[in-house]
Amino acid sequence: MSRRKIIAGNWKMNKTPSEAVALVNELKPLVANDDVDVVFCVPAIDIVPVVAAVKGSNIQVGAENMYFEESGAYTGEIAPAMLVDAGVKYVVLGHSERREYFGETNDDVNKKVRKALEHDLVPIMCCGESLKQREQGVTMDFVRQQVKVGLQGVTAEEAKKVVIAYEPIWAIGTGVTATTEQAQEVCAAIRVCIKEVYDGATADAIRIQYGGSVNAATAGELFAQVDIDGGLVGGASLKPEFGDIVNYK
Ligand code: PGA
Repeated sequence: MSRRKIIAGNWKMNKTPSEAVALVNELKPLVANDDVDVVFCVPAIDIVPVVAAVKGSNIQVGAENMYFEESGAYTGEIAPAMLVDAGVKYVVLGHSERREYFGETNDDVNKKVRKALEHDLVPIMCCGESLKQREQGVTMDFVRQQVKVGLQGVTAEEAKKVVIAYEPIWAIGTGVTATTEQAQEVCAAIRVCIKEVYDGATADAIRIQYGGSVNAATAGELFAQVDIDGGLVGGASLKPEFGDIVNYK
């Protein structure tokens, strides 16, 4: 089965609202490509102006996080309905920076994934091992646990819509991209895990991205792998280079 590629930028904590609009206007012509899904995941405060700025283009807007309750006394959090109402289609959940600096657990990620799906938001659920875990030979065990717990209580029909981003922590923001073989190996293992939990059709449908220092030089080879359906791109998504990544072919 052929899965449509999805190439998402993760802006992280960069760009004020006015800078965000300027960046969208700069990148808009560069990322024009109707053959792939192009998503800009932006800071919460940039969402409203970015949704307005991408109007009429092929760019869809994602959030970088979301809370798992509907509304209420959760000072500082953003509810799924707020994202939907603002025009958001995707939401990055369980990024390693959220896990590391803000204590997010697999159970938190699972609650967020289920809540996002309830609201028809597409979760981009992140997973990935640390350098220590890779050296200890537990990469697959660790990633499988993240994926299995993250998707607990999610039906096969819902899981087909989920995007999984495999991002080895040692490759994020370091300039060290995983080798094509390393990235393909883990993405393939994630697909096997999905097949075990659900079925072959779900495993065939689910899109798995690679993330971690993706750049214009590495994107083509990575995205050509059978189990890699695009990328989650940090640093390079803030530059004109993102246009070359989106148009990697
Ligand atoms: P990077 O970030 O491309 O800057 O390594 C990727 C990510 O954290 O999503």
